[in-house]
Amino acid sequence: MAANLKISPLSAMSDFQDWARTVALDMERTLEILLPAANIAPIRLHDAMRYATLGGGKRVRPMLAFAAGLVTQADPERVKIVAAAVEIIHAYSLAHDDLPCMDNDVLRRGKPTCHVEFDEATALLAGDALQALAFELMANYRLADSSETQILMQQLFARACGSVGMAGGQAIDLANVGKQITLPELEFMHILKTGALIRAAVRLGAYCGKPLREAEMGQLDRYGKLVGLAFQVVDDILDCESNTEKLGKTAGKDQDANKPTYVSLMGLMPAKQFAAELLRDALDALGGFGENAARLRQLAAFIVQRQH
Ligand code: IPE
Ligand code: IPE
Ligand code: MG
Ligand code: MG
Ligand code: MG
Repeated sequence: MAANLKISPLSAMSDFQDWARTVALDMERTLEILLPAANIAPIRLHDAMRYATLGGGKRVRPMLAFAAGLVTQADPERVKIVAAAVEIIHAYSLAHDDLPCMDNDVLRRGKPTCHVEFDEATALLAGDALQALAFELMANYRLADSSETQILMQQLFARACGSVGMAGGQAIDLANVGKQITLPELEFMHILKTGALIRAAVRLGAYCGKPLREAEMGQLDRYGKLVGLAFQVVDDILDCESNTEKLGKTAGKDQDANKPTYVSLMGLMPAKQFAAELLRDALDALGGFGENAARLRQLAAFIVQRQH
C-alpha cells in the first residue's frame, strides 16, 4: 500500500526537530513539577522516582499524545497531563524492566539503572509509586468535556498498563526467554509490551479534544497499533545493530539473553523491511486526516528511522 502523503525530508524534518525539542523540554518542566519534590519524605523513594523519570529519554510517548491532540484541537494543558501520566508509566516500566529479575541491565538513558544507583527494593517501589502517581494525575485534572469520556480515558489507560497491556507483554517476554516462538506470537508480545502504551498515548491525546467519529478514532487507533509495533521492531533492530554509547543502554542484550526478537526470527534485513511496511500502513491509516495529522506522520517516520 502506498502512503497517502509524503513527508518532505529537509524542511519538514528540521521543523519537526524544533517541535520535538519543544515538546521534550515542556515535558521535562511538567514532570519536574508533577513528581514529588526530592526534599519531601520518604526522600530516598522520591529521589529514585525523579531519577527514573527526569533528565533523559526521547519522550516519544508524550510527543504522540501532543500530536494526536492536534488532530482534535485539544487544549495543550489537558494533553500535558495525559502525556506526563503516560511518560511516568513508561519510566516505571523501564525501572522494573532493568531489574535483575527481568532484563538485569545496568545502563539506562546513559546513566546507571535505578536499582544500580539506589537498590533493588527502592527501584521496585519507585516503579510502584510512579504507577500510582500516573493514575492519580488522570483523576486529579479535568481532561475531557464529559465525565463519560474522562472515565473511558481512565479505563483505556488502565488496560494499556495491565495484564492485557504492558505488564502482560512483559510477562510473555520473560516466559519466552530461550524459546522458539512463531511470528504471530512475537507480534502479540510486542503489541502488548510496547504497543499498548504507545497506542494509549495516541488515543488519550485525541480524547482531550473534540470528539471524533467512531471510524476516525478507529483509524487513529490503527495508527497507534502500527507505530507501537514498529517502535519495538526498531528497538530490536537497534539492540542488534547500534552501540551502547548511541543507545544509552547496553547493546546486544537481546542476543545475550536469548530473547526472541524480530531480528532473531526474521533476520536483520527482513526486520527492517517489516518496519518500513508498518510505517507505510501507519501513514495510510491517517489518510483521512489531512494537515492536522502532519505531526503524527512525522512521528511515525521518526520512530522507524531513528538511530537510538
Ligand atoms: C525503550 O523505550 C523501551 C521500549 C519500550 C522499547 P524508549 O526507546 O522510548 O526509551 P526512552 O524513553 O527514549 O529512554
Ligand atoms: C521493554 O522492552 C518494554 C518495556 C519496558 C515495557 P525491552 O526490554 O526491549 O526495552 P529495552 O531494550 O530494555 O529498552
Ligand atoms: Mg525487557
Ligand atoms: Mg530491557
Ligand atoms: Mg530492547
